[in-house]
Amino acid sequence: MSESIPQRFSDLASLRRSVADWRRAGERVVLVPTMGALHEGHLALVAEGRRIGRRVVASIFVNPTQFGPNEDFSRYPRDLAADLALLGRAGADAAWTPAVETMYPPGFSTRIDVAGLTEGLCGPFRPGHFSGVATVVTKLLNQVGPDTALFGEKDFQQLRVIQQAVADLDLPVEIQGVPTVREADGLAMSSRNRYLSPEERALAPRLHAVLTEIVATTRSGTLVAAAIAEGRAALEAAGFQVQYLAVCDARTLAPVERVDGPARVLVAAFLGRTRLIDNVAV
Ligand code: PAJ
Repeated sequence: MSESIPQRFSDLASLRRSVADWRRAGERVVLVPTMGALHEGHLALVAEGRRIGRRVVASIFVNPTQFGPNEDFSRYPRDLAADLALLGRAGADAAWTPAVETMYPPGFSTRIDVAGLTEGLCGPFRPGHFSGVATVVTKLLNQVGPDTALFGEKDFQQLRVIQQAVADLDLPVEIQGVPTVREADGLAMSSRNRYLSPEERALAPRLHAVLTEIVATTRSGTLVAAAIAEGRAALEAAGFQVQYLAVCDARTLAPVERVDGPARVLVAAFLGRTRLIDNVAV
């Protein structure tokens, strides 16, 4: 495994020249899109990229268009030097770090909107978020031109939205999901976990615990509605403000009343000012 700092590109033409060289040499190129503030979850995507490909490009771009006006864009953690060192240790070959003006030059006016999948779960609570994500990811895919792009199941709705956009737009890339990486106590790793106070951090693993309880009870025949009501009450009693807690079809993300095919339990909840999301397969 390479231990060096990955080559950093902020200029699209030079990035494209390098990727074209790799592809001409028959090397499989994998893209891992990120917003930086990297942790073990991101690095698992890079490791998977190393496993399935010869070249891994990680993008680091805090995308302003996917943050709402009252969200954390300006205080989102940024530490490029630390991120590049971590990417080097994980074996990434290149880091694509475009400036905001490179991504969105004056006059930029196109948006990708994925209907259906974005109407539930995080959609209503984060208006415009998935449009921002689908637009920037489409651009990243077109900029880098990878064979495969990797996304975490941690953001399950995002993964489904991107799969749909790529299929609908005939983008010549394979989209692959990677299982969620968790702390020892079950908390899904997230760049936003660093916002949690020590007290909140101690409570945060309840989120995953409640999801696994719902999986167990719905599997043993408890109705989805009852399991969800119980889970929501448990979270609120622990101090979470729940935005949604739902059992959904894993493909359409439509809520289900009983589990009789691939399904997912998904949650979004605030702990203090920090919004946490998580999901598990049923
Ligand atoms: P970001 O939150 O930085 O996440 C980058 C990628 O890492 C996403 O695919 C996300 O699902 C994955 N990821 C985050 N935490 C993970 C964990 N604990 N286990 C496994 N994978 C994890 O998601 C975004 O950035 C942006 O929306 C982006 C796709 C880059 C578009 O701007």
